[in-house]
Amino acid sequence: MNLTEFIEGRRNEHLAELCEFLRIPSVSAKSEHKPDIDRAAHWVAEKLRSAGFPAVEIVPTAMHPLVYAESLEAPGKPTVLFYGHYDVQPAEPLDLWTSPAFDPQVRNGNIYGRGTADDKGQVHIHLKALESLHKLHGKFPINVKVLIEGEEEVGSVSLWQYVQKNKEKLQADALVVSDTSMLGKGVPSITYGLRGLNYYQVELTGPARDLHSGVYGGAVPNPLTVLTELFAKLHDKNFRVTVPGFYDDVDSIPAAERKALNGLPWKVKDFQRAVGAPGYCGEKGFTVVEQLWTRPTLELNGVWGGYQGEGAKTVIPSKAYAKFSTRLVPGQKPEKIARLVEKYIRSLLPKTVHCKFEVLSTGKPWAATYTAPIFQVAQTALQKGFGKKAVFIREGGSIPFVTQMHDTFKVPCVLIGFGLPDENAHAPDEHLALENYHGGIKAIAHFYEDLASL
Ligand code: BES
Ligand code: MN
Ligand code: MN
Repeated sequence: MNLTEFIEGRRNEHLAELCEFLRIPSVSAKSEHKPDIDRAAHWVAEKLRSAGFPAVEIVPTAMHPLVYAESLEAPGKPTVLFYGHYDVQPAEPLDLWTSPAFDPQVRNGNIYGRGTADDKGQVHIHLKALESLHKLHGKFPINVKVLIEGEEEVGSVSLWQYVQKNKEKLQADALVVSDTSMLGKGVPSITYGLRGLNYYQVELTGPARDLHSGVYGGAVPNPLTVLTELFAKLHDKNFRVTVPGFYDDVDSIPAAERKALNGLPWKVKDFQRAVGAPGYCGEKGFTVVEQLWTRPTLELNGVWGGYQGEGAKTVIPSKAYAKFSTRLVPGQKPEKIARLVEKYIRSLLPKTVHCKFEVLSTGKPWAATYTAPIFQVAQTALQKGFGKKAVFIREGGSIPFVTQMHDTFKVPCVLIGFGLPDENAHAPDEHLALENYHGGIKAIAHFYEDLASL
């Protein structure tokens, strides 16, 4: 029996097991889910053992455990490090899910549930690809290290400490990740660039306490008004970020790359259908693909303060808050951008409020060449799994570990995504196309197999 037949014969088994994984609500952001996080880590460890890994560890950290496994029984063959995450985003708002977030269901060719696309479904693709190879041949064709973390959705803090302390152990010829998207249905894709991410919070304080807006209104500053005025100033009419120096270090994109990205089989119409907004905006002078993948942004993520409950409450709030972030592109340095943003915001604020400015996390952008031979192997493997030639894309999302690994080990990072941009990652009704899940297992199995002859 060949590899493809072997995997095709196990479709139902694979899907049933994925559902088991998806039923564990491993939400990293919420302490009430700590037991579920631990359960998910144990589940992954158990599956790695049954996939054929002789050594599997659950590594406790200051926050959520890491799962590490290795099989180094293919002397002379390449060693790859596969990275993924078993944690998921919170499922709220729950009432917007068609079927419950942690009770996976198959509908019209998709599997629905939190973590299907980001990232449990994609991690499971690798677990089943590796298991299939081991079951079929009695061993893995190459040396494999596996690192699955539980803090990706909250910034990968413990992971970075672990990498620093275990450089020798994690050394590999290449990093392999499936935590990104395909360009579109039927277009297998390899991602060679991601944006970086800085995350901030500001707290503005006006009056010492909440005030009756009738008794005091008109003669005291309102921090919510100041906050909204502040954020209204951070973009200009061309939708450029107004922070002085924000674009100074941005690497320009070579004409050839610009041409290649704009020539990809991708339609603005499909993008707009997936977004569903009444109108669109974006930095002037750049195409939508360029705006999404190659340009930095500043984005408000949440604003609060004052009264939001039922009915009316006439109040001048003492405090106003905002969470916001900047996506960064190659050339930009996260620490420098954080300083520029803070400086500009402080310069815009009137003396009527105090400002507490916090940088919650920083993360570097990443973009690399894809000339190493491993990319050719990946392309061929995707052809075997999907019957189509893979394209090379960049994406706008961020995976802190990829940049860290690339900087630390200077090895090729092969990002093979099986999600689709409209599969609602981080949102209600997250799903994964079954064709990409099953096709992914085939492609990844071929990938690991073909790497033996690299
Ligand atoms: N899998 C995503 C990153 C991603 C999504 C990359 C789509 C490319 C395309 C990851 O789980 C994620 O959500 N990352 C966060 C950053 C993290 C520090 C919370 C992000 O991009 O917002
Ligand atoms: Mn992810
Ligand atoms: Mn995510």
